[in-house]
Amino acid sequence: MRATALAHPNVALIKYWGKSDTKRNLPATGSLSVTLGGLHTRTTIEFSKQLKQDQLLLDGSADAAADLRMVRCLDELRQHAGVSLFAKVESANDFPTGAGLASSASGFAALTVAGAAALDLSLEPQELVRISRLGSGSAPRSLFSGGVWLDIASSPGETICSTVSEPARWPLEVIVAVTSIEKKAVSSTAGMESSRAASPYFDGWVGSHPQDLADGLSCFTDKNFMRLADVAEHNCLKMHALAMSTRPPLLYWSPATLACMQAVMKLRADGIPVFFTVDAGPQLKAVCLPEASAIVRERLQSIPGVLQTLDCTLGQGAWVESVVKA
Ligand code: DP6
Repeated sequence: MRATALAHPNVALIKYWGKSDTKRNLPATGSLSVTLGGLHTRTTIEFSKQLKQDQLLLDGSADAAADLRMVRCLDELRQHAGVSLFAKVESANDFPTGAGLASSASGFAALTVAGAAALDLSLEPQELVRISRLGSGSAPRSLFSGGVWLDIASSPGETICSTVSEPARWPLEVIVAVTSIEKKAVSSTAGMESSRAASPYFDGWVGSHPQDLADGLSCFTDKNFMRLADVAEHNCLKMHALAMSTRPPLLYWSPATLACMQAVMKLRADGIPVFFTVDAGPQLKAVCLPEASAIVRERLQSIPGVLQTLDCTLGQGAWVESVVKA
């Protein structure tokens, strides 16, 4: 009853920020992401009669905030399997945790896939989507490869997630500029809830989002990089404008984040196929065509405050590495 699964984090080009139902963790907006091959979360789950409660070790230490969400996912899996055993969960990332690199996405994708494998469940992909979403709204996207759409519109009250473009069809690359490895002060969960409650711009964000999503999806269909650059940067800056307009304000950028944004805009103005996106943290992700990656990496590394860069190609969805039966 032990299984190990791996998942890559993902980065949204058209973003999720805000919930329509906190209990079921339903996003108020759909989203479009790319799965980041090169970065990994590895999660091992063991269900055992010896345990008196669920236990989580994240990069070697207990994590109370992730605990509750983990138990929600485990409860769903236990219900499917008809068992009441507790589980020990050990999860490790090979990239900075909790600093806007979507570690909760890869974490809950790997947890769901490992848990289902340990309990010998063969669940439909959209059931894995539902269970992983209870952990984190961005997690379903890490179950899938390449360009991924999380659709909230076609089945009200549910989320449907799927690949819209396999990695080989449009091999985009992503260079992450790490500007801080400190854990962020306000989590995405808390930040998006306070934006909903206390920003005058929240309705404008939700109301204008479907058009951004439709535009982003059509850029993937047409492989139109420059149009994708335009809508993705717009959507990112709109999310941060919403965050900044929240009371109290949420300002996720560092001076280096802003310097990276300006450098990427300048590169694109000079004809280099690159654009940026930034999540709820100070790291900048530069999305580019393969021929531009060397120049983009070199430019980002020259910016004061950039601690390191991480190279990603588009990766596959979460997968089982090993299963050990009792
Ligand atoms: C800015 O998925 O971490 O990265 O559902 O509360 O766990 P919860 O939120 P989470 O939020 C992600 C926010 C974002 C944008 C995105 O990934 O779409």
